[in-house]
Amino acid sequence: MTKKQEPWTKEKVQRYAEVMGKKRSKWIYASFAKKIMKNLELLEKNLTNLTILDLGTGPGFLSIDLNKLLSDARIIGVDLSSEMLKLARSNALKAGMSNYETKLGRVEEIPLESNSIDLVVSQNSLREWKDQKRGFFEIFRVLKPGGTLILTDLNKGCPRWKFRVFSFLILIAVGRQSAKDHIGSYKNAFTFDKVIDLSRDAGFDEIAGEGGGLELFICAQKI
Ligand SMILES: C[S@@+](CC[C@H](N)C(=O)[O-])C[C@H]1O[C@@H](n2cnc3c(N)ncnc32)[C@H](O)[C@@H]1O
Repeated sequence: MTKKQEPWTKEKVQRYAEVMGKKRSKWIYASFAKKIMKNLELLEKNLTNLTILDLGTGPGFLSIDLNKLLSDARIIGVDLSSEMLKLARSNALKAGMSNYETKLGRVEEIPLESNSIDLVVSQNSLREWKDQKRGFFEIFRVLKPGGTLILTDLNKGCPRWKFRVFSFLILIAVGRQSAKDHIGSYKNAFTFDKVIDLSRDAGFDEIAGEGGGLELFICAQKI
C-alpha cells in the first residue's frame, strides 16, 4: 500500500535516535504518552497491570515515557528492525525499566497471541507498514475485547501552509539530512479519513480522533 521506503540502516537508526532522543524532541513522546493517559481516563479504563504493545517501537522512547505514567504495566515493543530493537533495549535499561520486552516482527503478522493485549499504541510508524489493512486486522486480533488502539502518525491531509511552516522549522531544528528523512516521509503518510476507514474495516468501534494538524490521531475500541 505504501511507496518504497528507505530501509532502516544502522546509520539511519543512529541519526533518528540521536535527533529524537535530544531534549528538544522528548516532548513529542511525553506529550503523546500524556494524551494516551487522558484518553484512557476519559474511557474510564482500568489502568492497573495493563499489557501494552508499542508497535514500531523504534528506539523505545514512547515506551519509556509511558512507563513513567503506568509503572506496573508490561510493555512489549515490536519492530521489524533488529537494529532499532537493540537500541530500544539499551535505552529501556538506561531508563531503569524492567518491564519492557522486545519482539522482532512485523505489524502484518504480530508475534503475539490473539486477545492478549489491553492497549496498542503506535507513533510515527503506520506510514512505513507494508500492508496497513493487514496491520489493522492484526491489531484487532491481538487486542482483548474491551481493548484500545491509540495511534498517531503524520497526516497526509494537513493544510499546506502548516506543512510549509513545519518544514522550515524542522530544517532549522534538526539539520538538512534529518529534516529530509522526516519531511520526505510525508509522501507515504495517510489521511485521517483513510485511517478511520482502515480501523472500521478491521472491526473497531467507537473511533474518535483528530485530523486537522500535521499529525493525525485516533483512539479506537475493540468492543
Ligand atoms: C519513524 S520510526 C518511529 C519509531 C518510534 N515509534 C518513534 O516514534 O520514535 C518507524 C518505526 O516503525 C518500524 N516499522 C516500519 N514498518 C514496520 C512493520 N511493518 N512492522 C513493524 N515495524 C515496522 C521501523 O522499523 C521503525 O522503527
